[in-house]
This record gives sequence, structure tokens and C-alpha cells, in this order.
Amino acid sequence: MTTFDRNVFAFTIIVVVAVAGFVALLGVSGIGVRDDTSRRAASPGAAPVDAPAEIPSREELRAMGLGPLPPVTMSADNPLSEEKVELGKLLFFDPRMSGDGAVSCATCHGATLGWGDGNALSLGYPGTLHWRNSQTIINSAYQHKLFWAGESKSLEAQAKSAFTGNVAGNLDPVMAEERLRQMPEYVQRFNEVFGADSPSFDDALRAVAAFEATIVSRNVPFDRYMEGDDSAMPEPALRGLGLFVGKAGCVECHGGPLFTDQSFHNMGVPPNAEFETSVLRQITLRYQHRARGVPEELYRSADRDLGLYYTTKQEADKGKFRTPTAREAGQTGPYMHNGVFKTLPEVVDFYDRGGGDPGKDPLLRPLGLSQQEKDDIVEFLLSLTGDAIIVEPPDLPEYEVLP
Ligand code: HEC
Ligand code: HEC
Repeated sequence: MTTFDRNVFAFTIIVVVAVAGFVALLGVSGIGVRDDTSRRAASPGAAPVDAPAEIPSREELRAMGLGPLPPVTMSADNPLSEEKVELGKLLFFDPRMSGDGAVSCATCHGATLGWGDGNALSLGYPGTLHWRNSQTIINSAYQHKLFWAGESKSLEAQAKSAFTGNVAGNLDPVMAEERLRQMPEYVQRFNEVFGADSPSFDDALRAVAAFEATIVSRNVPFDRYMEGDDSAMPEPALRGLGLFVGKAGCVECHGGPLFTDQSFHNMGVPPNAEFETSVLRQITLRYQHRARGVPEELYRSADRDLGLYYTTKQEADKGKFRTPTAREAGQTGPYMHNGVFKTLPEVVDFYDRGGGDPGKDPLLRPLGLSQQEKDDIVEFLLSLTGDAIIVEPPDLPEYEVLP
């Protein structure tokens, strides 16, 4: 060996050792290496731009706070029991719990429609049309604040708004109690569950909340994957997961086991044109502006839902809505507070463009996703979607005139 050869040889050894050390380091730190490398996407000669998303290990996902949902916890004055859930189910499906006796919770939250109503903008109490998209009640027991702009603080309070609100149930609580008194089966059930002589509206709210607490995700591929089933999520869904927590930044807002930060953001979602063509929707929109104490000039000029602003009256909160759970998105379309997107690919395209109007959240930026990456994110959202939760409408108690 010449001196030159020896130098080249020594240099080569150093490089090999350095590279091996770096690879080992990556392995130890877990960065960019999944616990099951055999399932990693092939990247046939891919350029860096198209390199497959890094798929984090289960440990990394858990460290980010992602994983199956814990059991539901109820408020101290409303513990769950089987009998209470049964009673709540009757009340949820009973149209007599509305002003005209024809609208039940199930009218706008149907089991076969992902527990929403399947419309962009919801149905309304007869003679009205609603101004927002009907939310799913799947997993709503986990939300800290309910409704699109978090107007309600508990399931019980939400049920009160839903029963009595004049674009939903339009029910007078005293009338509700009177009707329930004329049905011996209800009188007996309320007595068994709450020990009361006669049914009260507040107890009805507790029972409905208890029923809703049983409508939670079932058999979700992502949850099964996190519990150790390697075959639960197909490869595209795993790549989508990598994008969701990585390049696409979705987890910034859709984090935690419920895949929401339970906080409020302005996404600059485009307006729903139906507000301009439907006088009934206009009436509801303007009614909401006025009922929620919006200043006169804004009441006249605002052509869209102001979201969190109604609660805070802070300019900066205009157009902010609570981050919805990304769970069950596969069965809860159309999407957004005004249902303006019909499909998940439309939602992902919207994010890829960097969201909507000016004034939107600073976290939103054009993502530069390839078609394949967008498809992968949709696949991941589908793997966050469990089985349809089908509940047969129960046989309802009969009226009987009291002696
Ligand atoms: C006329 C249709 C309609 C009826 C009837 C109706 N809802 Fe809703 N529901 C909606 C709409 C629309 C929203 C979103 C409203 C908003 O954000 O202002 C909603 C929101 C909800 C939410 C909030 C979910 C979340 O993630 O925050 C729950 C829970 C709910 N409804 C339960 C009920 C219950 C219980 C009843 C019966 C007492 C009921 N709804 C009756 C249309 C309806
Ligand atoms: C800055 C916070 C934020 C980020 C980042 C974010 N989202 Fe959202 N997401 C929201 C909010 C807020 C809404 C509701 C907006 C509205 O109705 O005006 C929403 C709505 C959705 C919906 C519709 C859910 C429904 O029930 O209607 C889906 C699906 C969704 N986001 C998926 C994603 C994906 C996928 C990403 C990443 C590409 C992402 N989000 C990034 C906050 C965020």
C-alpha cells in the first residue's frame, strides 16, 4: 500500500464508521424509523420532495397524546345507569318532546346518517330552517363545550337548548312535563331512575345526556392499530397518519384522543350560498344576530355566522369555531359549520390551499401536498372512523288520560 492508498483506506473506514454511527443513532432515537420497518412504504428511487411521510412509532404517537378514547366521565350529579340510558333513549326518539309533537332529537341526529342529518345546513323546527350544519352526537360526551361555537357547557345544558330552541325543538318545559305525566310508563321510569313523584324537565335532560354518553366510537381501525393490531390500518392510512402529525400539521388543532384541541379557530371557510337564496335561512341568520345581541350595523351587514364572536363580542373571535373531532369524519359529512364541503377530499383540498379568507388562523398555510398525499390523509381520516352505531327506534310509551 502506498501512503496515498493507506490514507484513502483510513478515510473510508472513518466515513463508514461515521455513517453506521449516525444510522445507529437514528435507530436509538427512533426518529424516522417505525417500530415495524417491514410495513414501511417503498420509495422506488423517489426524489426528496416525493419521499414518503415518516410514520411515527406507537410510542411517539402516544407521546403526542394520540390513542384510544378513555371511558366517558359524567358530571357528579348525573351518574350513568342502564335504566337512565334506556329512559334517555326514549326521550331522544320521542317527537312529543317538541312544540308540535313531530320533531325529535333523532329527526336531526339519525343513526344511519352518522348521528347528524346528512344535509349541508340542518333541517329546522317546522316553519324554520336551521343556520348551521347538524353536528354528530358520536363522542359528544367528550367535548368540553358543545355546539359549533361552544355555546353550551355540558350535555345537559345542550339538551335544554335543543329541546327549547325555536329552530330545533321549540318545546315549553312545563308542557313537556305535562305530556310526560300523561304517560304512565314515563311516570314509572322517571320514578325508578330519579325517585321523583312525577317526571321533571331537568331529569329528562339528565337522561338524554346519559343516552348520548353511550353513543361513542366503536371498532375504530386507528384504535385497534394503537392497541397492537398491525393489520388494522392499511399502508396509505399509515402514510396519511404520518402526514397528519407531520407535514400537514393537522395535529396542531386536531390533537389528543378526541382529535380536537377543543379550542376555537377561524379557518376562513367560504360562505354557504344557500344563505343568499333561502329566505328562511336568512331569517334564522338575522334572528341569531339579533337574539345574541350583535350591534345594529353588524346585524344588517353580516352575511355569515360570526361563531365565537356571539359569546365574547371580541372582533378577533369573528368566524372562530370549535375544532370538531376528526374522529368519525367518514360518516359525518357534509363538513364545517355551514356544511360547505360535501366530501373529505374537498376538505383536504381546502387545507392544501392554506384555508380560506384573510383573517384565518396563522397555523394555516399552503401545504404543497401531492395527489397521493391528499388521498393518504383521506385514508387516515377513514381509519379514524369506526362502525356505524345503529340504534333501533324504541317503542314509545302511550298517552293515557289521567283519572
Ligand atoms: C332541527 C334539527 C335539530 C334538532 C331537532 C336537534 N338538533 Fe342537535 N344539533 C342540530 C344542529 C344544527 C346543531 C349545531 C347547532 C349549533 O352549533 O348552533 C346541533 C348540535 C347538537 C349537539 C352538539 C354536538 C357537539 O359536538 O358540540 C348535540 C349534543 C345535540 N345537537 C344533541 C341534540 C339533542 C339531545 C336533541 C334533542 C333534545 C337535538 N340535538 C335536537 C340540529 C338539531
Ligand atoms: C388551525 C387549526 C386547524 C388545523 C391546523 C386543522 N384543522 Fe381541521 N378544523 C379546524 C376547525 C376550527 C374546523 C371547523 C371550521 C369551521 O366549521 O368553520 C375544522 C374542520 C375540519 C373537518 C370537518 C369536520 C366536521 O365534522 O365538519 C375535518 C375533516 C378536518 N378539519 C380535518 C383536518 C385535516 C385533515 C387537517 C390537516 C390537513 C386539519 N383539519 C387542520 C381546525 C383545524
